[in-house]
Amino acid sequence: MDREHHEMSRSRLEEIIEEHCRRGRWALIPLIQEIQEENGYIDPAVIPVIAEKLKIFPSAVQGVISFYAQLYTEPRGRNTIRLCRGTACHVRGGKTILKLIKERLDIEEGETTADLEYTLETVACLGVCALAPSMMINQQVFGRMNPKKVGQILKRKGEDHEPA
Ligand code: FES
Repeated sequence: MDREHHEMSRSRLEEIIEEHCRRGRWALIPLIQEIQEENGYIDPAVIPVIAEKLKIFPSAVQGVISFYAQLYTEPRGRNTIRLCRGTACHVRGGKTILKLIKERLDIEEGETTADLEYTLETVACLGVCALAPSMMINQQVFGRMNPKKVGQILKRKGEDHEPA
């Protein structure tokens, strides 16, 4: 999915909060999800605004955001790379692939490239151990990774990695 990254205007934020806040504190999760959906991430600056409107502590809002791994407080890349760090992938050179990706994109795990093209994550097992070492970019699986493939795949800058 290609996402737009832009700062949400204060008026749009208030509009979303108004839509949800009639449901009181139960509005919190759908409200946060909608903000992320529109903005790509939840700017920490909106946390006190939400808390005030819903009459809850900012720490409660922060708590929900921290609890759900799918909620982010930093901009995300248009494409998410999930490299497997499971045993099968590890023994077949997954660590080298990770190192190469980090070098190529100049980011660490959990980080996003400055151009917002990629976010790099590692996961315990992608469930395609026979294709080790493996990774996914968005929904597409890339198996039997090797250094050459890293170069080929990550060269296609600007392209979306949805399945054809
Ligand atoms: S260990 Fe990598 S896909 Fe299962």
